Amino acid sequence: SVRARIIGTGSYLPDKILTNAALSQTVDTSDSWIRSRTGIAQRHIAADGQYTSDLAFKAARAALARAQVDAAEVDLIVLATTTPDNTFPSTAVKVQAMLGMQRGAAFDVQAVCSGFIYALSVADNFIRAGQAKTVLVIGAETFSRILDWEDRATCVLFGDGAGAVVLRGETTDGSHARPPGILSTHLHSDGRFANLLYVDGGASSTQSVGHVRMSGREVFRHAVVNLAAVVVEALHANGLDQSDIDWIVPHQANKRILDGTARKLGVAPDRVVVTVDKHANTSAASVPLALDEAVRDGRIKEGDLVLMEAMGGGLTWGAALVRW
Ligand code: ACO
Repeated sequence: SVRARIIGTGSYLPDKILTNAALSQTVDTSDSWIRSRTGIAQRHIAADGQYTSDLAFKAARAALARAQVDAAEVDLIVLATTTPDNTFPSTAVKVQAMLGMQRGAAFDVQAVCSGFIYALSVADNFIRAGQAKTVLVIGAETFSRILDWEDRATCVLFGDGAGAVVLRGETTDGSHARPPGILSTHLHSDGRFANLLYVDGGASSTQSVGHVRMSGREVFRHAVVNLAAVVVEALHANGLDQSDIDWIVPHQANKRILDGTARKLGVAPDRVVVTVDKHANTSAASVPLALDEAVRDGRIKEGDLVLMEAMGGGLTWGAALVRW
């Protein structure tokens, strides 16, 4: 059978850093409030004229270089974003052109903060079905552009960035006891909770972009329950349990959600990759940004069992289990 293996990771963060202290100059908040409620110390903000496609391109180029794959070999780009450059065309086709690709297919996936897990699942299924061999999966956001900078309850939580992975379909011949690659992906959504976290604008409704609106406390409550459940679902589907996990690479929304989920699962905090302090919540970019950091600093090693999970607006949530 065919398995999708992650053969390269990459990421990109815009140069400009906005600290809590700087933010508290313009919004009625404080470093201590933000740190104690969220664990966030700073976030990166895209420059004027720097779009989601620019961030995505840089992350993609880094992942391709790490994988030693030429853009011409890529069959498919699946790009997760909730902040596309334009309503259309997709940000994925813009990245396709920036990479100099003249073949293959490219499209966007929209599942907000769960976007990367959704995109990874789509890519995994294309590879398993034999419809693509080499796939670029990107999560990229300029979330700062859809924030209401006068709403202290939301604007302090988010940041901009991009991460990417290169997947390659490999035939498993049975000679490897624990062949590397994606073991399984698990997606869920429940549109009854759409009003807990949404943007109050859009092409069809207001003909404007709109701003993020959120019932923070309610989202928090759903996050810990749903994330713990989908992690257990992913492990059990593969005959594994919590003690088999080497690294959890979670969506980085809030340190308290990360801690609460780890506690509920009985996973030691030092097995959880945390970047929310430096990046804040970068929505679809947060999982591949955290993954790239842990791969590059040597924490994630060959043979490790890596569990990625996320929850976001929709509500949407999901998990992916990967043997490194
Ligand atoms: N600075 C200072 N005070 C603030 C700020 C701020 N930035 N934001 C809100 N407050 C005030 C509120 O006005 C409120 O004051 P009041 O009691 O006088 O009315 C008080 O702080 C408490 O507000 P709550 O919203 O109840 O605070 P809570 O303890 O729930 O923390 C938070 C808010 C951090 C948003 C929390 O609910 C949370 O983390 N929710 C999860 C949301 C999330 O992470 N969403 C991301 C997208 S979804 C995902 O990725 C999982």
